[in-house]
Amino acid sequence: MPVTAIVGAQWGDEGKGKITDLLAEAADLVIRFGGGSNAGHTVINGLGEFKLHLLPSGIFNAAAISLLGTGMVVDFAALQRELDDLRRAGVSGSGLRISNRAQVVMPYHIVLDRLLDEARGEERVGTTQRGIGPAYADKVARLGIQTGDILFPDVVRRKLDLLLPETNRTLLRLGHPAIDPADIMRQAGEWRECFGTLLVDQVELVDRYLTEQRPIVLEGQLGAMRDIDWGEYPYVTSSTTIAGGGAVGGGVPPAAIDRVVGVVKAYTTAVGTGPMPTELHGVEADDLRTKGAEFGATTGRPRRVGWFDGPAACYARRLNGFTDMAVTKLDVLSGLESIPICVAYDVAGRASSDMPVTPLLRDAEPVFESVPGWEADISDIRSWFDLPSEARFYLSRLEELVGAKAGIVSVGPHRAQTILR
Ligand code: GDP
Ligand code: IMO
Ligand code: MG
Repeated sequence: MPVTAIVGAQWGDEGKGKITDLLAEAADLVIRFGGGSNAGHTVINGLGEFKLHLLPSGIFNAAAISLLGTGMVVDFAALQRELDDLRRAGVSGSGLRISNRAQVVMPYHIVLDRLLDEARGEERVGTTQRGIGPAYADKVARLGIQTGDILFPDVVRRKLDLLLPETNRTLLRLGHPAIDPADIMRQAGEWRECFGTLLVDQVELVDRYLTEQRPIVLEGQLGAMRDIDWGEYPYVTSSTTIAGGGAVGGGVPPAAIDRVVGVVKAYTTAVGTGPMPTELHGVEADDLRTKGAEFGATTGRPRRVGWFDGPAACYARRLNGFTDMAVTKLDVLSGLESIPICVAYDVAGRASSDMPVTPLLRDAEPVFESVPGWEADISDIRSWFDLPSEARFYLSRLEELVGAKAGIVSVGPHRAQTILR
């Protein structure tokens, strides 16, 4: 059955949006299976340049359904803004559907995200402040409001009566005014009016497409190192970023997923706090950041940058079971005399390519090897064999370290700047 999951193999921003846009051309259903508007997925295609936060990157395929899956937390106000931007650019977004079992990011989740992360002081996660953590916390505490609830105002009101007293106590303690339930009920009415008809039964939809053997793409959010279970906890997001989440949040039975594309950037970037063993500083970091235009698609924050981290990408392959890998931003490395690659970590005097737990990762020293760089601009190359031999060698080294074949190589941000092997 033709189901492809596309997942991030590092700390996010690997280029999942570009790869999803590319593979979604041939899909009938594209599902975002986790996260919320913390995502910033950049797509550059014949229709223009777009930064998507909630919308699946398949939204440009007018013939496909683009579904916000059950594993997501949906901020309806942000969704409205995103749709308005798209429509201004001439994209109708008519394929949009929303699972009726996803969670709603409420206005108080967004306020709490900022206040609670600030209150952690030195231990802050540096979240995107999009309400993600508090929304997932309410979900598992069984205090969440599901997207489908907006069709039942009495249900929303009862849930607010249950949860707001405690939420308001927390807000007041953090110096923020209490939330008025009437205000939320008014907004919920607007969401019902704008999005009520887009709510669907995801299980029926997915089952129908699977039965008809129609191609499905599962689009991941963030990367394995920020996964709630497997990432560098607690400096992680609050959702599942790995392919298994495509089954849980995407509503696709696990055995139906037959291709898992791990997206890796040819070097490493991260936004937010937490260990990043190959991180560069000073002029070297500034150069790489400028060449790669590494500024966050959601918050505009300068991204932390570093060399390719073999243990991290291998860890992601082990967790996700990549059938193949998409290596992005190879063009950014052109012009370097030699390129360091982290092949292992030195953890307390012992070299290992396994991923240690966070307290040990914090002090892990990267073990580098250097491979020759290449001078030529490769952004117009469209065939594997036209790549400089050094670039092919670099990719083959990444393949060995990760344990997956680079079936897709991206040499520029545009959909067309792609080598399919
Ligand atoms: P995502 O969150 O994984 O979808 O990635 P982002 O969109 O946040 O960040 C990737 C950035 O790299 C975006 O600005 C893309 O337009 C850009 N990009 C993607 N692939 C390539 C590539 O092969 N070369 C270059 N130079 N830029 C790329
Ligand atoms: P895409 O999908 C990069 C980071 C934040 C923070 C941590 C938790 O574009 O790859 P959150 O707001 O989720 O509670 O923040 O995760 N983060 C991202 N970093 N790309 C993203 O999304 C991110 N989404 C969250 O910086 O460290
Ligand atoms: Mg991004």
